[in-house]
Parts: sequence; structure tokens; C-alpha cells
Amino acid sequence: MSENRGEFATRAGFILAAAGSAIGLGNIWKFPYVAGQNGGGAFLVIYLALVFSIGLSVMLAEFAIGRAARRNPIGAFAKLKGGAWIGVDYMGVAAGFVILSFYAVVGGWTIAYTVHTLGALLETADPKVLGAFFGDFVADPKSSVLYHGLFMALTMAVVIGGVEKGIERASKILMPVLLVLLIALCLRAVTLPGAGAGLAFFLTPDFSKVGIETLHAALGQAFFSLSLGMGALLTYGSYLSRHVHLTSAALWVTGLDTLIALLAGFLILPAVFAFGFDPAAGPGLTFITLPAVFAQMPGGVLFGPLFFGLLSIAALTSAVSLLETVVAHFVDDRGMGRRAATAWAGVGIFALGIPSALSFGVLSGFTFAGRSFFDVMDYLASNIMLPLGGIAIALFAGWILLARITDEITAAGEHRFPLAVIWTWICRLVAPAAIAWILISGL
Ligand code: PHE
Repeated sequence: MSENRGEFATRAGFILAAAGSAIGLGNIWKFPYVAGQNGGGAFLVIYLALVFSIGLSVMLAEFAIGRAARRNPIGAFAKLKGGAWIGVDYMGVAAGFVILSFYAVVGGWTIAYTVHTLGALLETADPKVLGAFFGDFVADPKSSVLYHGLFMALTMAVVIGGVEKGIERASKILMPVLLVLLIALCLRAVTLPGAGAGLAFFLTPDFSKVGIETLHAALGQAFFSLSLGMGALLTYGSYLSRHVHLTSAALWVTGLDTLIALLAGFLILPAVFAFGFDPAAGPGLTFITLPAVFAQMPGGVLFGPLFFGLLSIAALTSAVSLLETVVAHFVDDRGMGRRAATAWAGVGIFALGIPSALSFGVLSGFTFAGRSFFDVMDYLASNIMLPLGGIAIALFAGWILLARITDEITAAGEHRFPLAVIWTWICRLVAPAAIAWILISGL
């Protein structure tokens, strides 16, 4: 992607590519369990408020900085400002490295579950059996490392081979299929006997349970899910033609990402209550509840593998944007060849992911302040590095280069930008202050 600076031909093509980065495991696997751990409805309200204020504004800033510079994150700040910008560029590359290391572990689970739902897994709907199956599967060091490696190998193959031809064409067809399947599964989940308690949990905000940790979790989840704060969407913006309306593109990507997360919530949380699981169960939640749903629905043996197969592909399109950011840095700024850069970065990320893959088994006793290695990687990247990157990007757009970035958003006056004043003050003050406050008090 970075060698020949091509351009997205159409607005729809760009929106789908950016949505492909944003929509992934963050929406379908992570959102329901983070919401479950943080009180359900109240988390949802805070999450939506953060997404459509800070998230949307930072996304618009990333698109505009990328398009103004036509460079990868590190090159972009160098070009626009004549030097690094308070470390956001290098931290972005580091965040991509860390996120992909644990992301690929869960990506591996989705591949494994595609295989297992094709096999005998769905012969039972007994929650206990399905829970034990997941526990045994992730505790087995051989299979977890193997599937993690397989997912990394696929990601590397796509990054070497180029994104446009295979994966992008495929995801244009497959992502709408995933959306339709999600809607169908939601209808099944909310009509399960006992699903009402899950809906109430998800939709009734109980603010008495909200603490600063809830805010911090929602902020980290917003940045993670929207792919913000590390320059992935900045890079996509750099391939965008000047005629595309940036504000409407940012609204589309934010809206689609939120839609998929909400659908996942309406699928997983009712099922959790219907089958008597614990909503705060953590990373295994999706993998335990969904097989129970499939086992109980007509055609489940077909929908099960189809769903996990599609989820693997959604995860792959996000993983590609993570690896691409790391590789682009080695290629553009360190003069490495694309193949060599992908090989080094890919193997390094795979190695860093091994302790995450073992976190649910042999390394489960090995914790830092109650968090497993896997949770530490996630926390470090999502709840610290990405929000810090968001502060830096907002300050850059709001103070350092406001006129140039606003000019880019309106395409030199070609497009209307009625919310310019609100956006400016979110970037200048609201986003940096709110993120800094949540980070400092949340730590
Ligand atoms: N947004 C992706 C997801 O929700 C993960 C991601 C984070 C991708 C940061 C790129 C950058 O699955």
C-alpha cells in the first residue's frame, strides 16, 4: 500500500476500507465483554457519548492530517511540522506492534472455532460443556500458539501480497454478509427464553455502578474499536482523493462501527443471561455463548462455521491495518524492503504474542496487579497508548496546524463544515482535557 501512493477511487471504497480496519474483534468479541464487565447500560451510554464526541473528532483529524500530508504517520508529522510530534508517531507504531500481538491470539481462536463448529462442538447446547471446551482449548499451549501463528502468517501474507486485490475485494462482499448474519443471530438471541434479563442489563443504565474505571474502560474501548490514536486511519486518509467529503466519511465509519458493536451486544448479552453465563466472564464470553446459540437454532451447524469464518476475515482486515502501519514505518523510514520488513515485524509480533497465547493456560498464574500478560498488553495499548495518541493528534489539529487542517476538511471551501467551531474546541480543549483527566484518575 505504501510504495505506490495510489488513491481510493470512490468514497464508498474508502469508507469500506476504513470500516474494514475499524470493524473487527473489537466490536464483536471485545465490546460485549467489556460492557459486561463494566455494568452494561451505563457503560453503553458513556461509550456512545465518547464515540460521537471525542472519537468522531479525532477520526476527522486523523483523516485530514493524513490527506494533507499524503504520508504514513511518522512521515506525515515530519512533513507537516518538520519533525516528530511529541512521540505520537513512534508510539503509534509501537501500539500497532503491541495490539497485534494479542489480537492475533484471538484471531487464532476465531479460526479454531471455524474448524470446531464444523466438527462436533455444536452437538451440545450445554453451557457447562461449552465453557469447559473453551477453557481446555485456550489452556492447551500447542493449539493456542499454533492458531496464533496461523493467524499471523495469514496477516503477513496479505500485507506482502497487497491489500487491494484479494482481501479488499473479498471483504466488500463478505462484510455485508456478516452484517446480515449478525442481524439474523440477534433476532434468535433476543427471542431466547430468558433473554429479557440480558436486554435489561444492556439497556438500563445504572449510574450508581459507574466509577472512573468505567469511564477509562469506555475510552479505551472507543479508541480501540474505531482504530484511533495510532495512525492507522491517518494512513488511510493519505490515500484519499481531495473530493471526498471528510466529515461525512468520518460519520459513516463511526456509525458503521457503532452499529456492529451494538448488534454484537444485542446478540451476546441476551444469550449470556438466557444460558446462565456470567456477563463479566471476560475474553471467553463470545466463544462460550455463541456456540450455545448456534446449537439451539435451526441451521446452526451451518451458521456456526459461517459466522466464525466471517469473523476471522473481519479480524484479518483489522490485523492487516495494524501490521501495515508497522511495516510502512520500516519501509519508508528505515529503507527496508517490504518483504523483509513484513517478515521481521511479523515474527517479532508473533513472539511477543506467545506469552499472551499462554495466558489462559500455563502462564495463568503469572499476573501483574491481577492482570494476566494478555490483559496487560491490551490495557497498555488500548487504555494508555491509544488515548495518549488521541491527545497528541487532537492538539496537533487544534493548535499547531488548525488553518491547514480545517482547509483540508473543507477541501479549500468546497465542502460545508457547519460544526467547525465545535470540532475545533473539542480538539483544542475538550478531548485533551477529558482524555488526560480520565487517564490520570483511571491509573
Ligand atoms: N478497530 C479494530 C477492531 O475493532 C482493532 C484496531 C485497533 C485496528 C487499532 C487498528 C488500530 O477490531
